[in-house]
Amino acid sequence: TTLGECMRCPLAPGRNTLVFGEGNPEARLLFIGEGPGFHEDKQGRPFVGPAGQLLDKMIAAMGYQRSEVYIANVVKCRPPDNRDPTQEERYACRPFLVGQIQAIQPEVIVTLGKVASQTVLETDARISRLRGRWTEYPRLGIPVMPTYHPAALLRNAHLKRPVWEDLQKVMETLKA
Ligand code: URA
Repeated sequence: TTLGECMRCPLAPGRNTLVFGEGNPEARLLFIGEGPGFHEDKQGRPFVGPAGQLLDKMIAAMGYQRSEVYIANVVKCRPPDNRDPTQEERYACRPFLVGQIQAIQPEVIVTLGKVASQTVLETDARISRLRGRWTEYPRLGIPVMPTYHPAALLRNAHLKRPVWEDLQKVMETLKA
């Protein structure tokens, strides 16, 4: 069975397209989001809707091209009505995400928002406590910088400054 035929969780029957992720397979920087939304499910590409346009700006502000980094999600199929993926769905999709991290072996992982940060770091701590602090990815020892999700920034402009501070820490680390 290929990933494109995956039927191992309840999200499968509702998807139009499986959104695996895209970017440089040798990226130094890996962004992990939550899961495909409406636009992503339609196009088969991660972060192509409004949140994606903001992520593009964040990547550019860091001095990178989108094609230089890698962009993935915790779940590869769209949750109905953009609800958070359940623990069962995250667990079912986890081997694919772990495979991406192991294949890319990035120098830094940025987790975008609560779902990605909690899933990758295997914690239920709040995003407000997680964000802005380096944490190691369990087992591989890759530094993870959790920050707020770009969709949250679109709703609350006050989050822009903390996100930019978090991204500057990432830039510092990648410069070294
Ligand atoms: N939000 C996400 O978390 N991921 C996407 O791919 C698009 C929007």
